[in-house]
Amino acid sequence: MGGVRDVQIRYKKLFINNEFVDAVSKKTFPVINPTNGQVIAEVAEADKEDVDIAVAAAKAAFARGSEWRTMDASERGKLINNLADLMLRDISDLAALETLNNGKPFEDALFDVHCAIDVLRYYAGYCDKIHGNTIPSDGEFFTLTRKEPIGVVGQIIPWNYPILMLVWKWAPALAAGCTIILKPAEQTPLTALVMAALSREAGFRKGVINVLPGYGPTAGAAICLHNDVRKIAFTGSTEIGHLILEYAAKSNLKSVGLELGGKSPLVIFDDADVDEAVEIAHNAIFANHGQNCCAGSRTFVQAGIYDEFVQKAAEKASARKVGDPFESGIQQGPQIDKPSLDKVLRMIEAGKNEGAQLEAGGSQIGEEGFFVQPTVFSNVTDDMTIAREEIFGPVQSILKFETLDEVIERANDTPYGLASGVVTKNINNALVFSQAVEAGSVWVNCYDAITPQTPFGGYKKSGFGRDLGEDALKEYLHIKTISIKVPTKN
Ligand code: NAI
Ligand code: MG
Repeated sequence: MGGVRDVQIRYKKLFINNEFVDAVSKKTFPVINPTNGQVIAEVAEADKEDVDIAVAAAKAAFARGSEWRTMDASERGKLINNLADLMLRDISDLAALETLNNGKPFEDALFDVHCAIDVLRYYAGYCDKIHGNTIPSDGEFFTLTRKEPIGVVGQIIPWNYPILMLVWKWAPALAAGCTIILKPAEQTPLTALVMAALSREAGFRKGVINVLPGYGPTAGAAICLHNDVRKIAFTGSTEIGHLILEYAAKSNLKSVGLELGGKSPLVIFDDADVDEAVEIAHNAIFANHGQNCCAGSRTFVQAGIYDEFVQKAAEKASARKVGDPFESGIQQGPQIDKPSLDKVLRMIEAGKNEGAQLEAGGSQIGEEGFFVQPTVFSNVTDDMTIAREEIFGPVQSILKFETLDEVIERANDTPYGLASGVVTKNINNALVFSQAVEAGSVWVNCYDAITPQTPFGGYKKSGFGRDLGEDALKEYLHIKTISIKVPTKN
């Protein structure tokens, strides 16, 4: 795989109005390869001035009579499909650059790009099927509704799934007919810039898509505070979610969608096949190095199988292959950056100090890059830091429970509510849990069953609004009611 490892970094500038341009300030910032901590590129750093220029471009692209606004809806669908075709053409380069910049195994990056392509195709088909109703209103009116694009939208995404999060945001926004200012995470701007180039090649008109690499408190805040931005779609930390709402309140009351952190429970009853349950729980927490908003980070196991489960879970974690993400068969690369690694290590220390039992892992690996051992704790109790706070790393916390009612209460005893899972052969357990859990997704006898068609989002402090499915489209649409006086009603 020497070839993919040598992937070129061609795009390092801001993408505004279909051109790659320097930042007004001429500033750049370093992008790091998390596998070895080395700088791999200096990328243009957007700030408020650049945001103003990009928003003006997106506003012009959205103006009444513009090519984008007057285009047939089906034509928008063709453009989105073109983008999917180009991603497929360049899939190896895209995945390699994702691996270089993010550190996820190359096979996982390929999978992400395939998922992103599926999401684009799903929404491409929607473009000419977005329509309103005719409504039997009281009085002598003929009433109909139109669904109209909200306008210029700001999209701020994290570094854990750079291409996939970009597409989750772009696809419904484009299908709805909005124009976009996207800020990738400062850690992972590289594939977003390639996606920008591909969008131009796909035929999107200038100003429809703009990509501004930069930092949150500068470029990110400027997007959120801009009075011509009509909506912010944000995926990231709960802490910044609070700020996004403040920005909206301080500016134009733009609408906001937030997909934030989680502490998702995965509940395993003792009627489950233990090996299968261990496998589901392992993937639920260790996928993407634990850097997953919906990670199954609280593994609740019923008392009857607890000891056997813990032993097998620890064996499985210890056998996980960690290393160079370009190497075939590697399951876990580095954490994204030094602060993230330090947070994971701090959490592991908290687990040890607060009395959890370390069953596997527990340490950093090597000095180079940001690697950490797949870690398993047993005897975790609800009050421990590792059971309450998002770790965002490869750390499994296994808790013991006795009854259905007890575990429902404990599963819901968290400020978060993004996802959940239950493994059982007992349909009543599965149904009662599915109804009672306060979470946006429930996965029964599986985990991470996320597809383009399935709405995804949070309860409580995991945010609001939905990505994917028909529900994500609604986030980008206004409903306009038109009532026409008619002489007589028939
Ligand atoms: P973050 O929330 O700071 O960053 C996510 C995005 O928000 C990035 O694009 C960042 O530049 C932007 N941002 C940061 N400050 C901003 C501001 N003031 N205004 C506008 N945009 C801003 O998340 P970070 O610091 O990378 O990770 C911290 C923790 O957050 C993680 O350890 C994890 O617990 C959680 N997280 C959750 C994610 C999810 O998928 N829900 C993704 C990333 C992080
Ligand atoms: Mg942050």
